[in-house]
Formats: sequence, C-alpha cells, structure tokens
Amino acid sequence: MILPIVKYGDPVLQKEGEEVNNIDGNLAEFIQNMFETMYEAKGCGLAGPQVALSKKLFVMDVSSGKETKDRIVCINPQIVETKGAIVSEEGCLSFPGIYFEVERPEIVTVSAIDLDGKEFTFEVDGLAARCVLHETDHINGKVFIEYLNPLKRDLIKRKIKKKIKLGDWE
Ligand code: NI
Repeated sequence: MILPIVKYGDPVLQKEGEEVNNIDGNLAEFIQNMFETMYEAKGCGLAGPQVALSKKLFVMDVSSGKETKDRIVCINPQIVETKGAIVSEEGCLSFPGIYFEVERPEIVTVSAIDLDGKEFTFEVDGLAARCVLHETDHINGKVFIEYLNPLKRDLIKRKIKKKIKLGDWE
C-alpha cells in the first residue's frame, strides 16, 4: 500500500520520534508499505515521521530495489561513529523539487535493531552514509533545510510558501 508522504509544514516532521519498543506483524506490514512508498516516490530513504508515524525507524535502499543487500530497515538507530566530511547535493521526499548541497560526514557507523528485534551494526559511505544521516535526522525531528545558513533557508522557505499558494506542495 502506498502511504501519503508528509510535506514540510506538517509539525510531525519537526518532532522527535518515539523509541520503538514493540516489533510485531503490524509494524512489519507498515515497513513493507514504507518500502513501496519510497520506491514509488523514487527516494533512497524514508523515515517514520515522513509517513506520519512519529517513531524512531527508517527504511533505505540506495540501489532502488536492485540489490537485496541494500534494502535496510533501521529501528531505534544510533550513529556510533562518523569520519570525514563531504559536500553533496541532497533532496528529500518531504521537500519535492528542492535540492541543495549539504556537508555531512563521509563514513558512518550505525547500530540499529532489525525486524527480528536483533541489534546489528554496519558501516557505510557515499550515498548510503548520506541517507543514514538524513533519515536519522528525520526521526529526531530535524529537516535538511536546518543545514542552510539563515539567508538561504529563508529563500527556500519563501519558495515553499509560493508552492503552497499555487497548490504545488501536496
Ligand atoms: Ni528527507
């Protein structure tokens, strides 16, 4: 089932998600829906708050469904370590049509719980690292425009207001 993606302006995106403490069939089904929604929207990551579930979980797949090993579910993720820094263009399914450069760590080690309730740890770089950091921000109520300086952020906010007025933000 394709879920509606929450756009910037909805308070759920700027609220810290709750820890997940019950992994059951309902959650597994919801996560399956999150993958479907992410693939349909052509994104590489999708966090709970983006589909109005204010919980600490996200899904990601930097291969767009081509590689099973890239299909990752992270429940209650923690960033364990980061290395380096790299600037690259970034987008967000909750900010359609908005792209800009963001500096983030280059290599990330993350530990999380999977759908079987087992803890796992992995290290990623490149797009996958960027995705882990971006989605972890989402579950902590942080959106990527917070990385912009105030001037650029205001410009983007004005652009979004215009889109909302035109009915181009749903
Ligand atoms: Ni996003």
